[in-house]
Order: sequence, then C-alpha cells, then structure tokens
Amino acid sequence: MAVNHIKLDKSKKGWWKSAVFYQVYPKSFQDSNHDGIGDLQGIISRLDYLDQLGIDGIWMSPMLQSPQVDNGYDISDYQAVDSMFGSMADMEQLIAEAKKRGISIILDLVLNHTSDQHRWFLEAKKDKSNPYHDYYVWRDGSPEQLPNDMRAAFGGPAWTYVPELGQYYFHQFAVQQPDLNWDNPAVRRELYDMIRFWVNKGIEGFRLDVIDQIAKNPDLGITGNGPRLHEFLRELSAEGFQEEYLATVGEAWGADVERAKLYSAPDCSELSMVFQFQHICLDQQPGKDKWDLAPLSLPALKKCMAHWQNGLEGQGWNSLFLNNHDLPRIVSRWGNNQEYRLESAKLLGALFHGMQGTPFIYQGEELGMTNVKLPIEEYEDLETVNLYKERLAQGYNPADIMESIYARSRDNARTMMQWSGETYAGFSDVEPWFIINPNYTEINAEKALADENSVFYFYQKLIALRKQLPVIRDGSFTLLCPDDEQIFAYIREDSNSQLLVAGNFGATGIVIPEEIQKQSAFLEGELILSNYRKREYKEDSEAAKDSVMLEPYEVRYYYWKK
Ligand code: GLC
Ligand code: CA
Repeated sequence: MAVNHIKLDKSKKGWWKSAVFYQVYPKSFQDSNHDGIGDLQGIISRLDYLDQLGIDGIWMSPMLQSPQVDNGYDISDYQAVDSMFGSMADMEQLIAEAKKRGISIILDLVLNHTSDQHRWFLEAKKDKSNPYHDYYVWRDGSPEQLPNDMRAAFGGPAWTYVPELGQYYFHQFAVQQPDLNWDNPAVRRELYDMIRFWVNKGIEGFRLDVIDQIAKNPDLGITGNGPRLHEFLRELSAEGFQEEYLATVGEAWGADVERAKLYSAPDCSELSMVFQFQHICLDQQPGKDKWDLAPLSLPALKKCMAHWQNGLEGQGWNSLFLNNHDLPRIVSRWGNNQEYRLESAKLLGALFHGMQGTPFIYQGEELGMTNVKLPIEEYEDLETVNLYKERLAQGYNPADIMESIYARSRDNARTMMQWSGETYAGFSDVEPWFIINPNYTEINAEKALADENSVFYFYQKLIALRKQLPVIRDGSFTLLCPDDEQIFAYIREDSNSQLLVAGNFGATGIVIPEEIQKQSAFLEGELILSNYRKREYKEDSEAAKDSVMLEPYEVRYYYWKK
C-alpha cells in the first residue's frame, strides 16, 4: 500500500482519535543559536522532517520560564517562554509554522506544582497572612517534628521546613517543586486564565503533567486519585478547555480502566484521553518501584493491553506509547538493540500502532534510538542522581544500582536527537548540555532518510495506515494466543474489514500457530505491512510472502475486505 498522507480537519470533533502525536523534548531536539541547548527556532527548522513523518501534533515538554531543576517541570512563570529556548515571538512563529503544515502544538501543563522561584511561592513564604500563602500546602511543625512521614517521588521527605514561618510546605516531587493547593478556588482560577491565554495564542491541546496527583490530601497520606480529583477535572475542562476540538491528555500513573473511563468519557466532560502506565510497569518487581527490575512476561503484556483495549471500547480513549522523556528507550528495553535493532524497533511500533487509541512517538523512536551507559558522574537527571545516593546510603551494591540506572534512568531518553553523523550529531555545532549517544554515527536521521528500509519509513507507513484504514481507529480488538510466550497477535474488526496483526517477540524463528493461520484475514487477506523486505517486495515467491514461519522479531499486517 502506498504511503498517502491525509491531513486531518482539526475543526472536527474528535479529530485527535485519528491523530498521531510526536513528543519533542526541546532541550535535546535541535539547537539553533550555538549554545548547545535545543530551542524553539531549532524545532521550527525541523518541522519539515516531522511533516514528512506524517504526524498531526507535537507535544512539547515545557519550554516555559524555569530554573530547570527538573528540566522545565519546575515552572516559575506560566506565561513566559524561557529565554534559553527563545522568545514569545519564536513561540508564536512555531505555532503558525506548525499550523501551516497541519501540525498542532500541544503544550505541557504542569498544574500540580510550580517552581519555588514562582512569584506565587516567593510571596507565599513571606508570611502566613500573605494572599498567596494559601496557594500552597502548609502544615505547622518544628525542625524536629515533620507533619508526617510522606516521601517525595524524587527522594527525601515530602515536607520542607521554612523556619521564618514555623511551617512545612508539601512537595510530591523535588524540594524546588512546591505543590499547589487545588482546594483553593483562587489557584484554580489563575490556572484556567493561564490556559485561556495559551488557547488564544493558537495552542490546540494540552498534556497534563501528573494530573492524577492534583487532589492530594497529605493529612490522609493521599497523593494520587484524591477524593476531589474528577470534580476538579470537570471544572478545569469547563473553564479551561471550552473548545471541544482541543486535544487534552492526562498523565495518570494511577489510572486503571474504571478511572480512565471517567478521565476520557466520550462526552469530553474531563479530558480527551488518558496516558496511563500499567503496561510500562510490568517489568518491575510487584509492589516495588521501577528500579527493581524484573523480566517482561509477554503474556502479561498482551493481557494488559487487551484489558485496556476491550475495557475502554466505546467508553473512553487511551493513548498508545512505549517511550517518553521519563522512560528508557523501548528498543533497548523490550526489543533487541544489537543484531535485530531495526526489526525489533519496527515490531514494537507495529504492535502498538495497530491498536485503538492515539499513538505518541517520542523523538528518536522513529530512528530506533537506544539507551546509554554512563559513569554515574555524567548523569544529569535529579531523579537518577538522588536514587544513586539514596540506595548507596541504604547499603546497595554500586554495581547493582548502576544496572538499574542503565535500564531505567530517564536520561536514556534525554540524550541529543541524532540528526546526522557530523560532529555533535547535527544537533548543534558546539558541545551540547548533555551527552550524545556514541552510536550517532550509525543511527541518525540523515541515514534513515536515505534508506528505504529504515525505521523512519516504517513509522511513516504506520502513521499513514491509521488514517487510511478506519478499522485501526474504530475496530473491535480480539487478542489471539494469549498464553503464547513468543507471539503477540490480535485481530481488529469492523463490519466490512479485518486487520490481523501478528508479531514474533523472539530472536528465533517460530511457526505461526494454528489459531492465527485459520483467521480469514490470514487466509484471504492482503499482506499490507511487514518488517522483512522479502515479503513486501514480491521478488520472492508467493510462498515466501505467506510463509507460516515468523522470522526473528518479524511482524505482519494482513488486511481483509470482507
Ligand atoms: C511528570 C513528568 C516528569 C516530571 C514530573 C514532575 O511525571 O513527566 O518529567 O519530572 O512529572 O513534574
Ligand atoms: Ca540554543
């Protein structure tokens, strides 16, 4: 099937159900002014590349004014572009240039907390009667007596003492990220007004950072899924997201299917879709955190995905992703980043892009970029650095801590985008703020664009197929061979077609099970996608095309028009 890019009509309700988004981490994407830090003009200069890939929107990690303790997730002014990234004029130009190409800009809204350098917080800590004091969450205490023993996500207590006030403020993340008090209606009003400011600038959607944690109640030890959460979301939607065409995506680590139905109810009373992590957490030890590694069970992954596919059908909307700026590179994690890097990167992409939901591609995923291994001193991410100190103090063996860091550090995703084989990978002409993966001479966009067999062109096809075949958006989902340890296969079906997706998760060939071979789509359908060239280009015999052997990491799509 030829690649045929269809541009979406963004004034249509629910356009985001047919869309594919691409996440840009501005700091690591493209530098334009020779300071080694990615910026807005850099993104503008790469819009044609993104347009060629065929995406419909860009989710940008925060580029707002920030001391950069947590790479922009600590915002000190929601209505100012950080000078490191450019100016408001650059932002307006980016929105306009993207729109010309049918690409929407989706802003990352960090509404759970601000930076401790935000004007509101600087006022809040002046004294208890300051009107901004109640914008944050305070409890009385003394240096010896913390309000309780809650811990912050980035290590240490969730409480930090301000001696002048004799009070502690609450922070679920870093000390420099005080939590906003959502129980205060004035806080909510400020946030809604800020959202309107950006909508008026032409922003067409929002990704809502840790949105399940806004309704915290520290007295009860509650962080995620607080009692007022969905009440707040409905108000936020009514006041902030008045236009029904906005694409809104809630980051919700604590969402299960039932809760996701509330977040993404078809009446859009809360958000367009949920960004949940159940599948991503399967390869950690039960009840422990992401640093406690465990092998991935393929049957568990398949059942988890099927549970979401079937659970939300007609009642909600999910996002589909394997990577983001907080996660390691999927080809190193669940694929094979050695001999079968290309095959496994494509397999993973094809398995997820064939499902119902809205795919999110993270920068470099379309090139099959991989993890890195660095000496501990070279890591930048505060979560990684704190983890190392904390586990060392707890008596862990340094080599074991490093294994966890290699596998899970957020810095795996934050190395510079690999544009070319030139010095500094075409990212900049000076040394960047953080490292470039040494494999950039092999893995880069320039090479990918020159190779019709690249991951890039495979993703381009996946994106185009979603718009060409309504069954990918709307069809029902049936998991095949649920207990098979190596095959991942499913059927998508609507009244006039069937799509069979079948992949081999292993480094050895395997015979396609009976259960798949007897499907009409296999027997009658057309092979429309494969990551093995000998199938797609029919220079080989018909027999090769319809071979009942799946090669290592092979994936195929069969499409059958009833
Ligand atoms: C989200 C972001 C992450 C950030 C955290 C605190 O999980 O994705 O990067 O550190 O929230 O804002
Ligand atoms: Ca720059």
